[in-house]
Amino acid sequence: MKRDKKLRAGVIGAGAIAQACHLPGYARNKHVELAAFADPAMARHREVAGAFPGLRGYRSYQDMLKAEDLDVVSVCTPNSYHANATIAALEAGCHVLCEKPIATTLKEADRMIAGARAARRKLMVGFTHRLYSGPGTCHEMLAKKSVGKPFMIRVRFAHGGPYPGWAKDKWFYDPKLAAGGAMLDMGIHAIDLCLWLMGPIAAVSAKAATLVKKIAVDDNAVLLLEFASGALGYIEVGWTSKPGFVGFEIYGTEGSLICDYLHSLRLCQGKASAGTDSSDVWTILDANPATGGWSVEIDRWIDVVLGKEKLTMTGLAGRNALEVALAAYRSSKTGKRIALT
Ligand SMILES: NC(=O)c1ccc[n+]([C@@H]2O[C@H](COP(=O)([O-])OP(=O)(O)OC[C@H]3O[C@@H](n4cnc5c(N)ncnc54)[C@H](O)[C@@H]3O)[C@@H](O)[C@H]2O)c1
Repeated sequence: MKRDKKLRAGVIGAGAIAQACHLPGYARNKHVELAAFADPAMARHREVAGAFPGLRGYRSYQDMLKAEDLDVVSVCTPNSYHANATIAALEAGCHVLCEKPIATTLKEADRMIAGARAARRKLMVGFTHRLYSGPGTCHEMLAKKSVGKPFMIRVRFAHGGPYPGWAKDKWFYDPKLAAGGAMLDMGIHAIDLCLWLMGPIAAVSAKAATLVKKIAVDDNAVLLLEFASGALGYIEVGWTSKPGFVGFEIYGTEGSLICDYLHSLRLCQGKASAGTDSSDVWTILDANPATGGWSVEIDRWIDVVLGKEKLTMTGLAGRNALEVALAAYRSSKTGKRIALT
């Protein structure tokens, strides 16, 4: 890859997330020439032609990788195709940004990580919540021990579900294509944030259930996390509850961070005990903590490819989050607490 030439980008899967984030992100970035996309659905070809006139479209990603001399590729297909599409793009010499979850099994994730190593190419996973301003500030503050020792995290991510409304079809509800429901789809973001903010998870107990939608995967889930540090955490995710708190709260021995995506990121300084030494001093750190995410993802990814920014949303980070999510499904099925190695 020559630095004086633009990076040639391609997108595999041209559905909702490709159209909302990846295609416009590459088209906007000054270091990139958006070259092509691949999607078997003709409806996507018509939609993309409307937004990106003249962009070359292929029905198969294998054909696209053969015909185009690409440097970077985004994989935005249903989950069960992530591994093969990513490995094919790596083998074609491309750096790959793969959507979350990295894959549907740990074996696939391992093959992807090995594929990146063998091809000497970068593999990034689209954990876009890390790219919001609020979580970024929390990450910095935790590193500086600004709230003392964090002992509890609570995360809630919920919306009305991917279809109808967001995704181009119902694959999110097909266990073969999605490999899980709300717990994998939204839970993977929550789990990744927990790992990123609080460190390794030693054990998980969970219950995933289909409470409202008539679908073959879970539409609600609750996870109880035990961190290696001794801290506890819980995650609630749902595809059936649009209103309510969305974000996370971290409680530390010297203060708390309330990252309410819809309102603000607030810091409450002071001891967390209920005694006379407790305090209630609130500071608004960010009035719009969900700024960033998709709108900055491709620029950050290109900076990673160009070596201007360190790769942190690695294949291993994707694997670590997937490991917890799959263990959570095992816990839900067996009723047992699952220890992670
Ligand atoms: N980072 C985020 O916040 C975020 C948000 C939404 C979706 N996602 C992820 O992005 C991926 C896509 O989700 P979506 O919402 O765009 O779904 P979607 O249904 O809107 O789009 C998926 C597209 O993939 C295409 N496709 C299917 N098989 C293919 C193949 N073999 N090769 C190429 N294309 C193929 C479909 O025709 C469709 O156009 C999923 O893994 C999802 O979890 C991430």
